[in-house]
Amino acid sequence: MSNHQKEDTQEREFLSFIKEAGLVWGPSPEIYGGFAGFYEYGPLGKLLKNKVENSIRRVFNSQGLREVEAPTILPDVVWKASGHLETFQDRIIKCSKCKSAFRADKLIEEKHDVPADSFSDKKILDFIEEHDIKCPSCKGLLEKNIEQQSLMMKTKVAGEDASLRPETATTTYLPYQRFVSYFRKRLPFGVFQIGKAYRNEISPRQHVLRGREFTQAEGQIFLDPKTKNNWEKYPAIAKEILPFWDYKSQEKNAQVKPISIEEALKKKFINSQAYGWCIYLAYTQFVKFGIPKEKIRLRQHHPDEKAFYADDAWDIEVKLENYGWFEMCGVHDRTDYDLKQHAKFSGQKLEFKNEAGETFVPHILEIAFGSDRPTYALMDLFYEKKAEGEGKTTFSIPYHMAPIDVSVFPLIKKPELIKVAQGVKEELERDFIVDYDESGSIGRRYLRSSTQGTPFAITVDFDSIEKKSVTIRDRDTEKQIRVPVISLNHVIRQLINGDIEFERAGEVVK
Ligand code: GLY
Repeated sequence: MSNHQKEDTQEREFLSFIKEAGLVWGPSPEIYGGFAGFYEYGPLGKLLKNKVENSIRRVFNSQGLREVEAPTILPDVVWKASGHLETFQDRIIKCSKCKSAFRADKLIEEKHDVPADSFSDKKILDFIEEHDIKCPSCKGLLEKNIEQQSLMMKTKVAGEDASLRPETATTTYLPYQRFVSYFRKRLPFGVFQIGKAYRNEISPRQHVLRGREFTQAEGQIFLDPKTKNNWEKYPAIAKEILPFWDYKSQEKNAQVKPISIEEALKKKFINSQAYGWCIYLAYTQFVKFGIPKEKIRLRQHHPDEKAFYADDAWDIEVKLENYGWFEMCGVHDRTDYDLKQHAKFSGQKLEFKNEAGETFVPHILEIAFGSDRPTYALMDLFYEKKAEGEGKTTFSIPYHMAPIDVSVFPLIKKPELIKVAQGVKEELERDFIVDYDESGSIGRRYLRSSTQGTPFAITVDFDSIEKKSVTIRDRDTEKQIRVPVISLNHVIRQLINGDIEFERAGEVVK
């Protein structure tokens, strides 16, 4: 089997696992043949996505950013002001045989670890010819021509031209004056949104990584540009070592050399302390998701690759099993670009007056990611298909990110056990997502629980009635301990957080 065939089989097995497990279905609606770029999260997938979003909420809130929610459809004047209407386009290339259209840079990046987004049209065409890249649908020759296609999803509201938002960011900037008053006329302040955005992606073929409807999670920090290099939170993180990969090293095909944020500033990889702090925050978010550090890198955008609103742009990339290094998050210095544009188009003053009476337009630093890509990454990285004869498929997701925290099983279907098990379940549900199952053999229920990635399975047996204790089974080691029901919630919390070793958390069951 060739490497490509192996990769295709691996991806097919993975996709069938995530469908069968109730993680992600689609393209949806499946009964109508599917609409490319749209997906459903099944019950297990939605629980996982909630975990991802709650982790993001915790991180942003802990840094003082507050969550807001704005509309997803806005009149086109907004998108004219933001620049999206004219500039938010992708380059497409068509197949000369079947006429399918593809995003030209992604066609290259799918198989080659190069930043094709920064290539000129000519370089893209040359690369395609040199590497003999063919139409992924029919293997036909690609046309020697690149066209532009707008990514905006258009609609009309009461006869007025409007668009579905292609990012939450712009919609977060519009109530700027309200924020200034809410945050008591002090800079910096931060807000974030977790919500849907829409892009008319050209032939999206990378599952929920490139959906046409997707969930963004974008944090926006409004600051006085004079504080960018006198950033209060910078000294505490200056010495942190991060895997920076600047664009010049990318051009030379040089390896990532982790360096401190302080050094990245000295080398002018990044241009401010505040921006370095944003990169650090974004990086730690991915570590908090449980993604191994060696699978995370920070990739600087080439000057020709940066989005039209960005003065500085770095991506957080994660090395996926199915697609290699993949962009998960963009950190952008949007300067005063957005507020100035919206001031111009709305005729409103979007400025700040400091205590010294100076008036200026705040700058905005943005941490732009979403919940679909990290959710996909967790499925992709922790799904393990065991080789034939080596046993079951496992979903070894880090315990704190598992969609379901704990399963509860009465050993057998007897009323006296069911009564105790129901009581245990209700108590656990105060703090955890619990799966309760009383049918089938206990072995099968354990198997189902671990295939869903659930870290712990609790069994109520006949000893539970008298001794008021239950067994906890660990997903990965399959070892069991016996724990008093009264301390169950506390023990499970400690175990999920990794605060206590499994065998010290109760009496080991031999
Ligand atoms: N708000 C930036 C982005 O959508 O990538």
